[in-house]
Amino acid sequence: MHSDNNAKMLHYQGHAVACRDNESVLDAFLRSGVSIPFSCKSGVCHRCMVRCIDGDIPQHAARKLPEHQQAAGCLLACQCHPTGPMVLAPQSPENRVTRCLLSDVVFTEDKRWRLYFEPITRLKYRTAQLAKLMSHELNGECAATFLSSPDEDFLVVVELEAGVRLPDWLQQPSPEGLEFCLRGPLPVEPEDPVMPMPPEPGLWDELGGDRVVRAVLTSFYEKVYADLELRPFFERVTMDRIIGKQFAFLKENIQGEPVFLGEQPRNTHNWMVISDALFDHRQNLMLQAMRAHGLTDGLIARWARYEEQFRPEIVKYKPWLKRFGDLMVDTEQYEVCLLDEATVCDYCEGEIPAGTLVRYHKRIGKIGCDACVSATTPEEQRCPP
Ligand code: HEM
Ligand code: FES
Repeated sequence: MHSDNNAKMLHYQGHAVACRDNESVLDAFLRSGVSIPFSCKSGVCHRCMVRCIDGDIPQHAARKLPEHQQAAGCLLACQCHPTGPMVLAPQSPENRVTRCLLSDVVFTEDKRWRLYFEPITRLKYRTAQLAKLMSHELNGECAATFLSSPDEDFLVVVELEAGVRLPDWLQQPSPEGLEFCLRGPLPVEPEDPVMPMPPEPGLWDELGGDRVVRAVLTSFYEKVYADLELRPFFERVTMDRIIGKQFAFLKENIQGEPVFLGEQPRNTHNWMVISDALFDHRQNLMLQAMRAHGLTDGLIARWARYEEQFRPEIVKYKPWLKRFGDLMVDTEQYEVCLLDEATVCDYCEGEIPAGTLVRYHKRIGKIGCDACVSATTPEEQRCPP
């Protein structure tokens, strides 16, 4: 019987693999040399769990997984016999959930909530790593940082950020024994920057050169700017600018021509809290744009690898400081300056006279007149003397 293997094309981390009839996703990956964790090959160990970003998940592939993982599109690669094309991504720490028993809750002198608890199943973490606390029903998230050292004690200690209130589901007169869930731990900033892959000059021409790459990027950013989850990040960036930047960046990386004038992804995206799931969503829009311009699955995979390599510098769960060599700069704060010349308010366009003390956000750079600034939060109403 004739079968069209391309009908079951699997995209995974810059690889394109045609899955054969009667073959599982795991077997297709292993046959093609795609590295993926696995052990039992029989649906027991869950080592081969991946996430489906696009395509239909066969029911059998996810039936042994808890509801929250099914809802996040997780499946077991060894149990998955695709019925059509699929876009897959590795497991994300966001989908790792540990049940925990609360021992104590303390409100510290510097007004932070500190929680002491015992994980019911094994929890691997490092001090200062981030996690999300969730109610027993897995709703109502709240960010926390690990304070304890994993080798010190069996009790884990986390702290909520200053000013964050204790979620309702943790407010009990006697909290001991209360059950909640912990999502994560979430990855922290990698110690070493990404060493970009060497250029593949031939690939640029195979993709169709400047004309096709620019056309793909134009279609891609049209999707991004229309996307409810992605467009908020681009509020202050024109589409032409970002297409030009991305084009030059890719040309430099793929073709090896030094044409990119700009910052590396680590510093450009430092303030953007981008989860694995959002990164995958972006990559899927990119893949759709590449397909719409007739690129083959092989070419799509080779291009995607140049983007995928920057995932560790872009996915994060809280903003990073900007890094200039050894110098770290916090751009997520306000500064105050004395206006030499009159200017207009960035919010209401009313005049602000010369000699006014104005407060501006270091990254966004916007300044407001008295009326607009006092319309914001109480902390932002007044410039320090
Ligand atoms: C969900 C994922 C992503 C989001 C939300 C995102 C968002 C953005 C935004 C808003 C900017 C404009 C920043 C500015 O001009 O102030 C930008 C710039 C840029 N992004 Fe991304 N990005 C994502 C993923 C990526 C990936 C995977 C790459 C690598 C291929 C990348 C490479 C770049 C480059 C090269 C720039 C221009 C840097 C410059 O202005 O010097 N981005 N991105
Ligand atoms: S390899 Fe064990 S569940 Fe798939």
